[in-house]
Amino acid sequence: MEADTKSVTIRNVQFGHRVTVIEPVNLYECELGDDVFVGPFVEIQRGVRLGARTHVQSHSFLCELVQIGHDCRVAHGVMFINDRFATGGPAGGNRELWEPTRIGNHVSIGSNATILPVRICDHVVIGAGSVVTRPIDEPGIYAGNPARLLRHLEDTPDGLEGSPR
Ligand SMILES: CC(C)(COP(=O)(O)OP(=O)(O)OC[C@H]1O[C@@H](n2cnc3c(N)ncnc32)[C@H](O)[C@@H]1OP(=O)(O)O)[C@@H](O)C(=O)NCCC(=O)NCCS
Repeated sequence: MEADTKSVTIRNVQFGHRVTVIEPVNLYECELGDDVFVGPFVEIQRGVRLGARTHVQSHSFLCELVQIGHDCRVAHGVMFINDRFATGGPAGGNRELWEPTRIGNHVSIGSNATILPVRICDHVVIGAGSVVTRPIDEPGIYAGNPARLLRHLEDTPDGLEGSPR
C-alpha cells in the first residue's frame, strides 16, 4: 500500500529582508516582514502576515486569517484558530464561517497558548498554556483558561515592561 503524500515546505512566500527560517516548515502564500524568525515545525498558511522583527518559535500553527504586527513573540506550540465549530462541527471549506485574528504590535504569546479568533491590542503578554477566548483591548499580562487580566504593564523609560525589544 502507498499513501497519497503531498509536500508543501515553502511555496510562494513573500519574504522581507534578513528573514530566518529553520526547516522543516510548511509556509505558503504568506508574508513575512523584515527580520522575521520562524523556527522548525511551524506551519504558516495562506494570507498570514507577520510584521517586522516578529519571531515564531518551533511547533506553532498560524492558520489563514491571522495577522500579527511587528516586534511580537510567538513562543513554542502556539495554536491559532479560525474555525470555532460555531455550527456544531468543523466549517470545512465554508470560509464564510471562518473568523480572523488580529494581533497588534509588541505582543508576546507564551508557549502552548491557544488563540481563538480575536483582536489583541498592542503591548500584551499572554501566559503559557492560556486560552484566549475574548478580544483584548487593554495592554497587560493575561493568563489562564479563559485568559484573564493578571496585571497591567508598568510604563518604563524603555517602553512598556514585558515588551520585546
Ligand atoms: C503569564 C506570565 C507572564 C506571568 O508572569 P508573572 O507576572 O511573573 O506572574 P506570577 O508568576 O507572579 O503569577 C501571578 C499569578 O498568575 C498565575 N499564573 C502565572 N502564569 C500563569 C499561566 N501561564 N497560566 C495561568 N496562571 C498563571 C500564577 O499562578 C499566580 O497566581 P496566584 O496569584 O493565584 O498565585 C508567566 O507566568 C508566563 O506564563 N510566561 C510565559 C513564558 C513563556 O511561555 N515563555 C516562552 C519562551 S520559553
